[in-house]
Amino acid sequence: MYVTPVKPGVVELRLVGYDVLRRVRMPKSAHPAELLKVPVALREDALPFVRNYLTVPHQLALGATLSGKSMYLRTLISGLARQPVALAGIDCKRGVELAPFAPRLSALATDPTEAAELLPVLVKEMEDRYDLIKARQGIAPGTPYEEITSDVWGLPEKERPVPVVLFVDEVAELFMTATKKDEERRDEMVTHLIRLAQLGRAAGVYLEVCGQRFGAELGKGATMLRAQLTGRVCHPVNDEASAKMALGDIAPEAVGAACAIAPELPGLAVAGDTSGGWSRIRTPYLSLGDAAAVCQESAELTPYVPALMPFRPPVPVRPADAPPVPLTKPRPVTG
Ligand SMILES: Nc1ncnc2c1ncn2[C@@H]1O[C@H](COP(=O)(O)OP(=O)(O)O)[C@@H](O)[C@H]1O
Ligand SMILES: [Mg+2]
Repeated sequence: MYVTPVKPGVVELRLVGYDVLRRVRMPKSAHPAELLKVPVALREDALPFVRNYLTVPHQLALGATLSGKSMYLRTLISGLARQPVALAGIDCKRGVELAPFAPRLSALATDPTEAAELLPVLVKEMEDRYDLIKARQGIAPGTPYEEITSDVWGLPEKERPVPVVLFVDEVAELFMTATKKDEERRDEMVTHLIRLAQLGRAAGVYLEVCGQRFGAELGKGATMLRAQLTGRVCHPVNDEASAKMALGDIAPEAVGAACAIAPELPGLAVAGDTSGGWSRIRTPYLSLGDAAAVCQESAELTPYVPALMPFRPPVPVRPADAPPVPLTKPRPVTG
């Protein structure tokens, strides 16, 4: 039974008589999507868990291999694909997870070398947006970005830059180093990510980071970066230390819940937020093919972000008169 205060003297009681997370079906009411809000999963009280970039700009999703992180990202991407939002991806596993979404991506980096080129461009884009805010609001050009309190939402609609969400699948792959030179590059990338996380919100730049672990082993600055990723989703992890990395600093009581997740339900996770609250959630199943089809269908919504053009992934050219891509792949008739 769930009790939610509605107003003074009135509480809402919700009785959920079975485990809604065993077979996830999103309530219909979850769907009229608003900008930068994606009902990405179901909570155990049968309410949608909404990933809201306006209130929680950056998030970290942790989990062991096959725990459901990529499924979570996929669901988010297909939700955002239908909105006027630029999507950028870093997937250093050669793009196996994110390349299928290429038609809707404004930028894709599939190895650390490409990522090291993309990140400073995103930082520059963010700083340009701050400069635009300064110019429009008559703020002295020399004012440090950190002191600016207004954001892109205060700009007139015609001048407002489009929101950008950067997805990083498997952050550890990005930070893997073999040589001293790699180490320098990694430190630079961490610094760029920290900068994006510190200043991104006001510029409409958001981070969604996924990883198996996220501790000091990722190198200098990793803990500082993690502190900026205030939204947390913890899928089953291999050890308590990882659950602590995911939730310990924001919702300590959720650590035990994350460690107790039954492994037979992939995608089950504990979501915490900086208010100290947490809930068990699970994304609905979405196949890679269906998510890719959503991206193909919404390819025309890909916003034009000039700075990101060099990073736009190649997309197979389809003749203009080709029939529309079906949402589900046709199955050959057998028999
Ligand atoms: N929410 C879910 N509902 C049903 N099955 C899921 C869910 N999340 C993950 N799975 C299953 O688990 C597998 C591994 O998930 P994936 O997201 O690729 O894990 P990870 O990225 O953490 O390694 C998926 O291929 C899928 O079969
Ligand atoms: Mg994965």
